[in-house]
Amino acid sequence: MGKETARVGAHRGIQHVFGEEEAPKPRKMKHVSDSIAEASHLVFPGDLNAYGRLFGGRLLQWLDEMAGIVAKRHSESTAVTAAIDNLEFKEGATETDTIYMKGYLTWVGNSSMEVRIDTYAEKLSGMRVLINRAYFVMVAVDSGGLPQKVPGLIVETLNEQLEWDSAVRRQKLRKERAREGY
Ligand SMILES: CC(C)(COP(=O)(O)OP(=O)(O)OC[C@H]1O[C@@H](n2cnc3c(N)ncnc32)[C@H](O)[C@@H]1OP(=O)(O)O)[C@@H](O)C(=O)NCCC(=O)NCCS
Repeated sequence: MGKETARVGAHRGIQHVFGEEEAPKPRKMKHVSDSIAEASHLVFPGDLNAYGRLFGGRLLQWLDEMAGIVAKRHSESTAVTAAIDNLEFKEGATETDTIYMKGYLTWVGNSSMEVRIDTYAEKLSGMRVLINRAYFVMVAVDSGGLPQKVPGLIVETLNEQLEWDSAVRRQKLRKERAREGY
C-alpha cells in the first residue's frame, strides 16, 4: 500500500502531505564582504587625555559602535557585546591625526560572531599607522534579549581561513576562561 497522502484543507487551497517531514530550512550564508564597515573620525580636543593623546575610552566607544554595525549587518538583527579581547594599544594618536577604522567578521558560531577591528592614525601626509587591533564577540539577540541564530559565514580566501582558525582558538580560550574563572 502506498504512503498516506491525504491533503488537509485542500478544499481551502492549503496543501499538506502526511508522511513527509518538512525539510529543515538551510542556514542562510553570507560573505565577509557583506558586513565590512569602515569609518573615519577627526580627533577633537575633548577626545584627548592629559598627555594630548587620543583617550582610550573614546576609541573604545568608536570600536564598540563599529563592532555593533558589522554584527548587525551580518545577523540582520540587534547585537550586543559579549566580550572584548586582544585589545592592543600599539601607538598613540594626536589631534592632527585622522582616525581610520576597518571592521570585519572573522568567525560565527550559532548566535555569536567575532569582529576584528584595525584602527589607524592617518597622518597629515596620508600615511596610516596601525594604533589598535581589537576582537569583539557580538551576540545576536531577539526583541526579548535572547540569543538567536545568525547566518553562516562563507570563508573564501586563505586570509579568511587563517582568521577563522585563529578565531576558533580565541573562542576556545574564552570558554576556558569563563569555565575556570581566570
Ligand atoms: C551576551 C548574552 C546575550 C549571552 O546570553 P547567554 O544567556 O549567556 O547565552 P548563551 O550562554 O546561550 O550564549 C550565547 C552565545 O554567546 C556566546 N557568549 C556568551 N558569553 C560569551 C563570552 N564571554 N565570550 C564569548 N562568547 C560568549 C556563547 O558562546 C554563545 O555562542 P553561540 O550561540 O555562538 O554558541 C548575555 O550574556 C547578555 O545579554 N550580556 C550582556 C550584553 C550587554 O549588555 N553588552 C553590553 C552592552 S551592548
